[in-house]
Formats: sequence, structure tokens, C-alpha cells
Amino acid sequence: MERSRIVGTGHFLPEKIQTNKEIEAFCDTTDEWIVQRTGIRQRHRVAEGEGSSDIAAPATLNALEAAGMEPQDIDLLLCCTTTPDQIVPATACRVQEMIGATNAAAMDLNAACSGFIYGISTADAFIKTGQAKNVAIVGTEVTGNRLSWERRDTAVLFGDGAGAAILTGSENGRGVLTSHLWCDGSGLEMLWYPGGGSKIPVTHDNLDDFDIHAVQMNGQGVFRRAVGDFSGAIEKALDSAGFSIDDVDIMVPHQANTRIINAVAQKVGLPEEKCVVNMDRVGNLIAGSIPVALDEAVRDGRIKEGALVLIAGFGAGLTWGSALIRW
Ligand code: UT7
Repeated sequence: MERSRIVGTGHFLPEKIQTNKEIEAFCDTTDEWIVQRTGIRQRHRVAEGEGSSDIAAPATLNALEAAGMEPQDIDLLLCCTTTPDQIVPATACRVQEMIGATNAAAMDLNAACSGFIYGISTADAFIKTGQAKNVAIVGTEVTGNRLSWERRDTAVLFGDGAGAAILTGSENGRGVLTSHLWCDGSGLEMLWYPGGGSKIPVTHDNLDDFDIHAVQMNGQGVFRRAVGDFSGAIEKALDSAGFSIDDVDIMVPHQANTRIINAVAQKVGLPEEKCVVNMDRVGNLIAGSIPVALDEAVRDGRIKEGALVLIAGFGAGLTWGSALIRW
């Protein structure tokens, strides 16, 4: 076996839509600000009581159907999420049960917005070393109940949604050509959710403290790092596989801000029309962003057999990564 290949993609977005205009009613923000500064117009929201597994399961089944496989064919299920159903056990265990992937080992992977790329790299390694035959990766996030509307700089950004991909071995030259991952833990506090873990547990006293129980982000700092590191990750992918930017048919970037995507595209010399952008409709889906955008582009025919597909992302950790895929 030469490499691993994506043989099916899928996604699931909850029915309920929350527009910028609706948010104006209870948050100190405007539709105009959100659109101009981020490109986001609306996001999807799960129904009350639903968690990340509830949207991961249909997304994974959707990808399995596209791959022509049964849940029992999967032997590794990777659930990439920053919003697990619960701390223990992994959300992947619940998804495994929900879809009936009875032969699959299952684990969560938290690399924030780079989660799907970390997932691709992990799946690729498992398949190439023969540790797994078929791997399902699902990036899934339910962000609505982790946001504080008192914190307008982050609350307007994130949506709920899940996207999935099925990988298997390939002998025909198609598949994952390269994947590269990076982390800079010194930037941890540039984008983080401090509370609820072992270091700063939830207590009666800190329950209402938004500095602990809301996403904290140095927006401008993350923006600058994202443009630089994103571009570096793309250049590394192209160099290591012996391609130039002109060889790339389509890029599916992480969807944090249209201004970031445009700046990266300009920096690496990729025409904007080759960039898949869906955040206007779905917002930032963290680990779900890339797989949802990827599946949309596959299903609407923008990604065709033989295309050179570039995926790249940047996010909390700080983590970032890229992968080149011959579709
Ligand atoms: O997905 C993981 C990685 N995340 C990212 O890559 C996000 C990177 N950062 C960004 O996308 C941008 O920094 C943001 C969209 C988060 C913010 O945009 P910005 O252009 O960097 O705004 P800013 O933080 O510099 O704030 C500009 C102004 C401030 O007001 P003053 O001080 O100029 O009066 C903010 O208080 O915008 C204000 N502001 C808002 N106004 C209306 C911040 N958030 C909002 C809001 N509505 N939601």
C-alpha cells in the first residue's frame, strides 16, 4: 500500500439557524461589524440537550454512505473536538455506539481548529503502518453553550456542525501526499478556555467568572500568527511534495475569518476563487470547519477526481498544519 486515501466525506449541520441580526437583540454587536470584520452572516445551532456526538453520528454515517462502507468496516474512529459531550469518556466512544461501529477503537483528538488535519495525519500513519485498514475522522463542535454573550469578541464567531471523512489504503497514487503538523504551546493563553479542567475546576465561587468560563482570545495576536503560520504551512506542504502553488486546484482552509483566508491566499499566490469559503453560512466550526467545507466542495463538484487539494488550518494551542491530497 502506498498511501491513505479519502474515499468518502459527509457532514451534518443542525436545522436551527442563528443570524447576526438575531444576535443583535441580546449582544452588544451589529450585523455590519460581524460581516465586515469576519465574513460571518449566520451559524447553525443544535437543539437544547444535544451535544457533539448527536451531530457527529449523522455526519459520519453520511461519509460512510459516500464511501460505500458499513459502520462495522471501520477499525479506528477519531473524533476531533474541543467541545466533548463530557470529560470522560471520549465523545468518540458515544459516536462509536450510536453508529454501530462495533469493530472500531475510538478516541478523541483535541487540536482545536487544526483537529481535522491532526486527524488526517494520524489516520494516514495508522493506515500506512497497517495498524488500521479503514479510519473514520469526524470533526464535531457544539459551541453555543460554551460561549458568553457578555464577550462579543468571541461569542459571534462560532457555530455548531460536524464533518467527516473515511480513509482507506490506496495503491493507485491517489491519496494523502504529505501532512505536516506544528504546535507552539507558548501561545496557549492567546486562545483558550481556562475553566472546567483539572487546573481550574468549576467551583461555586468561580461559576460566574467570564475570565474563567468563557473563551479568551487575543484576536489581533491570533490573526497575525494565523496569517504567518498558515502561509508557512502551505509552503512546507508544496516544497516537500515538489509542487508549486499553481499546481493546487483547490484549497480548503480553516474558516476563522475571510480576511485571514484572503491574506493567506494573497501571500502564497493562490487566486481567491480557488479557496473554499463557507463561514458566511456556518461561522467558525473549529475542528468541524475543514471537513464540512471539504464535503460541500466534493458534493457540489468543485473537488473532482484527480484534483490536487490543499488543506490548512491554524488555531488554539497554538497548533497548525497542512496536507496535500491527490483526490
Ligand atoms: O479559529 C481559531 C483561530 N481564530 C482566529 O484565527 C481569529 C483571529 N482573529 C480575528 O479573526 C479577529 O481578530 C476578530 C474577528 C476576533 C476581531 O476582529 P478585529 O478586527 O481584530 O477587532 P479588534 O479585536 O481589533 O476590535 C476592534 C473593535 C474594538 O472596539 P474599539 O476598542 O476599537 O472601540 C472591539 O471592542 O471592535 C470591537 N468589537 C466588536 N464590535 C462589535 C469586538 N468584537 C465586536 C463585536 N461587535 N462582536
